[in-house]
Amino acid sequence: MLLTKISFSTLSILFALIFIGGYVSSSGVGLSCPDWPLCPAGLIPMKEFIIEYFHRTVAATTGIMVFVTMFFTFRSKETSRSTKIASMIAAALVVGQITLGAFVIVEKLHALLVTMHLGMGLILFVMILTVFLDAKEISKKISPNMRVINPSE
Ligand code: HEM
Repeated sequence: MLLTKISFSTLSILFALIFIGGYVSSSGVGLSCPDWPLCPAGLIPMKEFIIEYFHRTVAATTGIMVFVTMFFTFRSKETSRSTKIASMIAAALVVGQITLGAFVIVEKLHALLVTMHLGMGLILFVMILTVFLDAKEISKKISPNMRVINPSE
């Protein structure tokens, strides 16, 4: 099922993003790119803020992937209402998370905002994980019906 592959790709890139975010935070380079939405050199990556630049670029890609996942969740006739709701919550959260990222920068890494940024990232992960597990379950159910019938049988 296509949704299984798409949601797994989204889950993987989101995991990588959470990992990169943790690295940005623990290595203390959160304000190496003090502007928002773009870094000081615009779209050009530079050594001075490459990690934070990478975090933002992967965040933008993740945002697109989350919306693609929602699109395919709604397009599929097999997905349940709860899966569709999970994908909608994920889409709302990714917008919220990117907006919160802006506040994290503007408020110069306020501890409460950074903590909320981590928490929201985890809830987002759970929502995409839910969509992936549901899609996997559905493909398991529909695959026996897709058995290719050998014409010589
Ligand atoms: C889907 C989008 C995003 C996710 C899932 C995400 C996730 C994370 C995570 C998990 C951390 C580590 C937090 C911690 O260790 O406490 C982090 C750190 C950070 N994120 Fe994001 N992030 C996203 C988008 C953004 C955006 C768009 C920006 C900025 C425009 C941003 C700016 C930051 C900054 C500055 C830090 C480091 C905070 C510090 O130094 O303590 N994030 N992110």
